Amino acid sequence: MFDKKIPVEPYRIKVIESVKKTTKKEREELLQKAGYNIFNIPSESVFVDLLTDSGTSAMSDSQWAGIMRGDEAYAGARSYFRFEEAVKNIFGFNHVIPTHQGRAAERILFDVMLDADDYVPNNIHFDTTRGNIEVRRGHAVDLVVDEALDPEVEMPFKGNMDVAKLKKFIHDFGHSKIPLVMMTITNNSGGGQPVSLENMRLVSQICLQHRLPFFFDACRFAENAYFIKKREAGYEQKSVLEIAREIFACADGATMSAKKDGLVNIGGFLTLNNDILAEKLKNNLIVSEGFPTYGGLAGRDLEAISCGLGEVLQEDYLEHRIAQVDYLGRLLHESGVPIYRPVGGHAVYVLADKFLPHIPRDQFPGWALSVELYRISGVRAVEIGGIMFGKKNPETGEEEFPPLELLRLAVPRRVYTVSQLQYVAEALIKLYQNREAVKGMRIVHQAPYMRHFTVRMEPL
Ligand code: F0G
Repeated sequence: MFDKKIPVEPYRIKVIESVKKTTKKEREELLQKAGYNIFNIPSESVFVDLLTDSGTSAMSDSQWAGIMRGDEAYAGARSYFRFEEAVKNIFGFNHVIPTHQGRAAERILFDVMLDADDYVPNNIHFDTTRGNIEVRRGHAVDLVVDEALDPEVEMPFKGNMDVAKLKKFIHDFGHSKIPLVMMTITNNSGGGQPVSLENMRLVSQICLQHRLPFFFDACRFAENAYFIKKREAGYEQKSVLEIAREIFACADGATMSAKKDGLVNIGGFLTLNNDILAEKLKNNLIVSEGFPTYGGLAGRDLEAISCGLGEVLQEDYLEHRIAQVDYLGRLLHESGVPIYRPVGGHAVYVLADKFLPHIPRDQFPGWALSVELYRISGVRAVEIGGIMFGKKNPETGEEEFPPLELLRLAVPRRVYTVSQLQYVAEALIKLYQNREAVKGMRIVHQAPYMRHFTVRMEPL
């Protein structure tokens, strides 16, 4: 059916993990038991798992060798110093604080920096950054360019912050209410779109003028750097490592989930320049995560990250990675399936409200699509829409919805082959041809924060 070319993988398969096909009847029963929440489906019953690109990478032989080299000393382990060097080599900040994953870095940062009623601007906050801010009664503010919310506009850097909106926001709310400004690269909640270096520099200058600390949420920095190399004038001849260094030179620090562009299954870190802030963060870390030379990680995890950070910047890897995701997007787009354009770095985002126009937003079309895709194919993808980012207004009792209603097909790094991606595309195309049969859903039970993980639903 498909004859699209993509670059040949710059690696070969050394270890395999079997995946099992289930029947439609088995999947129907599993869905019922799961409260129609695909987070509750056992992975053993998932055929192609595009739930997330986080912590799902295949590690290399060098990373596995690093696992054996891990120094498990409580304090001052060799593995920490290798990790610190690998992070500093790219990020260039003075302090490197390991954490067990990205959200732990966020929690520690906001514990120390955020007071109730403070505002934190970002291009678009990911759900964990938003959750960590709102749990402390702060306000997470999204100031992305308007084009990001139009899934049909073709633009090279749709993850950019709207600089005019940022200036106005600082002017209106006053910098004393803004403990820091963040920027998510790539912008996961807005189609996985990159931010340009030009935009990073502008935001950095504004922050400098107003003496506001500027932090990157750097989970997918290598993919963002690769897009800069390919799309931004003046960077064609630079290496992705050089571009990454220019990125981080704009900021005061970064939070990082190494589960994405660290190419590992667990791990993260906080890295920054300010000595006084670093000391406070380390004290907080000791109480909750561990001693500052291991955070919440084993020495072997630190080894795997050190090695992964080197591999993720290899350009043949990035060329294949970005092309693989784009390939899945092209298969869908050319068959008429509505997707967010252009295709982002780590995922293809299906426009669920356009895919299922007969299902109103308050019947959660994105969620219904995730359930139906699993039912017909065993493919698991995640809703990024009304359940993940919507909420019930406590005063009116009405559901409020985010601008976009998406189903994200996140592609794990170095895991799936072309034929597996074709299987996914075929399932979605078939579903699109029979879309009128898909029904909306209603909420049966939900949690006050990050409800998508635990919500129970029912088909209408
Ligand atoms: N920031 C962004 C932009 C993310 O995408 C994630 C995680 C985090 C922070 C938190 O990192 O999971 O290590 O605690 N994103 C995953 C996803 C869960 O599926 O997109 P974490």
